[in-house]
Amino acid sequence: MSTPMVRAQGVRKHFGRLEVLKGIDLTVERGQVCCLLGPSGSGKSTFLRCINHLEKVDGGKLAVDGEPVGYRQHGNRLHELREREVAEHRRDIGMVFQRFNLFPHMTALENVMEAPVRVGAVARSTAREHAQSLLEQVGLADRARHYPAQLSGGQQQRVAIARALAMKPKLMLFDEPTSALDPELVGDVLDVMRQLAADGMTMVVVTHEIGFAREVGDTAVFMDEGIVVEAGDPRRVLVDPEQDRTRAFLSKVL
Ligand SMILES: Nc1ncnc2c1ncn2[C@@H]1O[C@H](COP(=O)(O)OP(=O)(O)O)[C@@H](O)[C@H]1O
Ligand SMILES: [Mg+2]
Repeated sequence: MSTPMVRAQGVRKHFGRLEVLKGIDLTVERGQVCCLLGPSGSGKSTFLRCINHLEKVDGGKLAVDGEPVGYRQHGNRLHELREREVAEHRRDIGMVFQRFNLFPHMTALENVMEAPVRVGAVARSTAREHAQSLLEQVGLADRARHYPAQLSGGQQQRVAIARALAMKPKLMLFDEPTSALDPELVGDVLDVMRQLAADGMTMVVVTHEIGFAREVGDTAVFMDEGIVVEAGDPRRVLVDPEQDRTRAFLSKVL
């Protein structure tokens, strides 16, 4: 058995007195797509932020690719990572948000090149070639010189996906990537994500696109109020759920 890409065991997180994650258990195997669903405020974004070292967990265990998030294992002891080490780990994880957060003063190509060039990972010319091929991959080869304001929301989101891929992540996190898009632009973004999954990328996707979750997801996880209510094969969980809470949620989003 290979090490899972993400393994959460009893993960807890609170903000002040508000308990947001109350013991999350979740495993994402390599090459799998895990779709996270649940009502607003259930802790989905917080959980993604924990995976990506943007929040510290307060309890339980969370590991990415076998390494405890935020810590380095040394024999039996855990040592807290320094900021620089955290940044290095974060580079292995691509994140795509609801809002695309592209740099407005940079072209699509420059946005995609930015991180690899900034961290000095590669020569500028290599970064440019790679960025161009990523834009091609997301169907935007002919938009490389456009600025974000000259692109539709769906195109901007595809640039954001290309930008996240530029650091060659081993894991991609998507936080409601199509929620801010006009309905007719959603399909192109989901197509890019579908292709990425088919190419073997490990993905955790917070989405309310039930069709996508059913078709592309290897697992569906339904969260409510900081706990996992139900998890399993999306073709069961999202079609014939066992829990009333899951059924009630699905009847609202479908
Ligand atoms: N930095 C923060 N400080 C205080 N409360 C927060 C913070 N981030 C999230 N929360 C609260 O945690 C709960 C879960 O939020 P979130 O993870 O964004 O849920 P979801 O993504 O499922 O909508 C909400 O009640 C939210 O207000
Ligand atoms: Mg959220």
